[in-house]
Amino acid sequence: MNSIVLLLAVIVVTLLFIRFRRRQFILPPGPKPITLVGNVLDLTSRELWLRASEWARCYGDIVYLHVFGQGLLFLNTYEVAIDLLERKGSIYSDKPRLVMAGELCGCENMVAFTRYGDKARRQRRLMVKALGPNAIPNYHTLLEVETQQLLKRLADDPKNYETHVRRYAGTLTLLVVYGYRVTSNDDLFVNLAEECVDILSNRIASGGGIWPVDVFPFLRYLPLWFPGAGFKRKAIQWKARMQEFTDKPYELVKSRMREGTATPCFCTTLLEEMSEKHEKFAEQDFDLRWTANSMYSASLDTTVTVVLHFFLMMLQHPEVAKKAQKEIETVVGADRFPTFADRVSLPYVDAVMSEVLRWGTPVPLGLPHRLMEDDIYNDMHIPRGTLVFGNVWNMTRNPDVFPNPDAFHPERYMEKVDDATAHRRDPRNVIFGFGRRRCPGSHLIESSLWIVITSFLATFDIKKAVDEHGEIIEPAVVFENAVFRTPNTFPCDIQPRSARAMALIREQSASI
Ligand code: HEM
Repeated sequence: MNSIVLLLAVIVVTLLFIRFRRRQFILPPGPKPITLVGNVLDLTSRELWLRASEWARCYGDIVYLHVFGQGLLFLNTYEVAIDLLERKGSIYSDKPRLVMAGELCGCENMVAFTRYGDKARRQRRLMVKALGPNAIPNYHTLLEVETQQLLKRLADDPKNYETHVRRYAGTLTLLVVYGYRVTSNDDLFVNLAEECVDILSNRIASGGGIWPVDVFPFLRYLPLWFPGAGFKRKAIQWKARMQEFTDKPYELVKSRMREGTATPCFCTTLLEEMSEKHEKFAEQDFDLRWTANSMYSASLDTTVTVVLHFFLMMLQHPEVAKKAQKEIETVVGADRFPTFADRVSLPYVDAVMSEVLRWGTPVPLGLPHRLMEDDIYNDMHIPRGTLVFGNVWNMTRNPDVFPNPDAFHPERYMEKVDDATAHRRDPRNVIFGFGRRRCPGSHLIESSLWIVITSFLATFDIKKAVDEHGEIIEPAVVFENAVFRTPNTFPCDIQPRSARAMALIREQSASI
């Protein structure tokens, strides 16, 4: 009996101690919430990063707000993001349980939504195998060939440049992941993927991906016909498309493997290592199916976005394009395409690419992580369950690291600096996210973007378009997205640099 009383006393004292400690710490600063609803009126579904960066200026490195009690934390500097998302990765690597996106729309098995644990670790192991730095040279030839195809389409039909870039991005991933070659602009899988990526990033995830049903999960039980249950009707449609998008290309690989006609790729490599007799086959099959799909979803919009940022910057900064073209002419000449072997000799092209990545900041708020336990940081209390965003936009616009941050200025990377400064200035250390959920596709994009940039500059000029009266059309630069910072289509004039460049494009594409 005495020991029970003692045990109870210890529990009570411990609970009181925890309560007392918590009271000592305050929440991080942020915009003033309204009773009950919190900061719901402060959020916006378009370019939330701009508003988040205004909060950073008002409240500092770390900003907290809540929507109906769901905490949202914005980490506005590299140092804070590393302190929390990387150094405390064991508690900052979970993903939110999103009723709408995850359960109702069927995205819960995509890598970017997978809760932190065994499944996430298994999926990431598969991706490291396919996309780690050692695997990338295996894709070099494929990247060079697909880039030359892109150039040919741009030469044939420059006005529809965005369609060609989308097809390039889609083809590349379909080839790497499913060994599937796209043969027309109206390809079933590319169209399906485009539709699903749009559903995912601009509808399901708009406004940070938080829907009323995420805050009030009981809403999921509303009957479909009930007023306000429109979200459920949408979710049914979207889920069916997502499932199709996951199953169709994967089943095609399997059937081609049975017929002996499959092209070697990420799926075939891993399927060959699996056996249907293995007790964990169902789990492995499931992991692979969803990991393949996640790679596709995560790479399409990001790849399109960075290539469009590159076009836009070359359009607005012809002096930069000229300087890079001169470097390429000196190293590569005019009689062949650049190859990966040329990269070490083209430092200015590398600087242009770094500045495209920094200026563009393709995923300005990263993807949210969920805090798994209460945490204390600099005497501030961060409640368990808070969704944590690295405010990458604020980091790539930090004037202490990038003087005159809105300017597109590749020369900033040409200066000789010590290793620590070079690390701070490399946008790759922030744009791919942080810690245990950092983007596994960063090595692939490093190579694919480089070969596109270099080959394009070697063979094309991009200029402002001219209207029927000969007046220059100033491109309107409009971003109106929720997750990826993809520019709306802008008018431009893309032309081969010379008859020799045109001939090179034709010769090369004829030999493929
Ligand atoms: C410039 C291009 C790209 C950028 C800027 C980018 C950026 C990001 C960011 C910010 C995240 C979230 C990281 C975090 O949670 O901290 C992410 C996650 C992810 N990315 Fe990328 N990405 C790019 C290209 C790619 C490509 C080409 C692939 C695949 C081939 C890919 C696959 C993924 C996957 C699967 C995840 C989820 C990882 C997880 O939650 O564990 N990404 N990416």
